[in-house]
Amino acid sequence: MQISIRRELPEDIKEIHALEAEAFGCRLQADIVDRLRDDGALWLSQVALVDDRIVGHAAYSLVEISHNSNNWHFPALGPIAVAPAYQRQGIGSALIRAGFEVVGEAGFGLLFLVGSPNYYPRFGFQPALPLGFTSDYVKPGGRHEHFMALVLDQSLIGSVRGHMRFHGAFPDP
Ligand SMILES: CC(C)(COP(=O)(O)OP(=O)(O)OC[C@H]1O[C@@H](n2cnc3c(N)ncnc32)[C@H](O)[C@@H]1OP(=O)(O)O)[C@@H](O)C(=O)NCCC(=O)NCCS
Repeated sequence: MQISIRRELPEDIKEIHALEAEAFGCRLQADIVDRLRDDGALWLSQVALVDDRIVGHAAYSLVEISHNSNNWHFPALGPIAVAPAYQRQGIGSALIRAGFEVVGEAGFGLLFLVGSPNYYPRFGFQPALPLGFTSDYVKPGGRHEHFMALVLDQSLIGSVRGHMRFHGAFPDP
């Protein structure tokens, strides 16, 4: 199976919405992508194609990390979706790795996400809490492993820390 990955084009928007809704079984994630785009906050949007058909999509937006009066911005991955008929064939992995290239080329040393701790560690994501990051997606004393970061620049660990906030397109946890 030949998978190609490219940035979204304006004519992909309807197909991306349908794909996100189909993969998640509801419109929540599809609507988040649309709102990010409408707000000019869709930092990166990549599609995976098989036989010229869009079968996967990954969205990235910038999150804010704040600590006292310091603020930093880094990309976060999500939502990501692969059409149910095409799942478990490496398309999600190919999309994630293609995103790493863009994040690295843009000079970012960290990439965040909130997602399954069974899936993302294989790409190098690790729990973000022990690295010094907090999120409203982690309740005090509750499970935290779904809040993860990929460290591309180790020198940031310790110097950058604080509370992570997604763009307002994402619902309150
Ligand atoms: C998650 C998703 C994008 C992965 O895409 P994919 O193309 O199926 O993934 P790949 O083929 O690269 O990898 C498949 C592996 O991921 C695992 N996997 C897939 N979805 C997973 C999930 N939600 N949680 C945990 N593991 C998952 C599979 O078990 C498989 O593992 P294995 O190789 O050990 O058998 C896709 O399954 C999907 O769209 N799911 C519905 C939407 C969703 O849950 N998005 C992510 C939210 S965190």
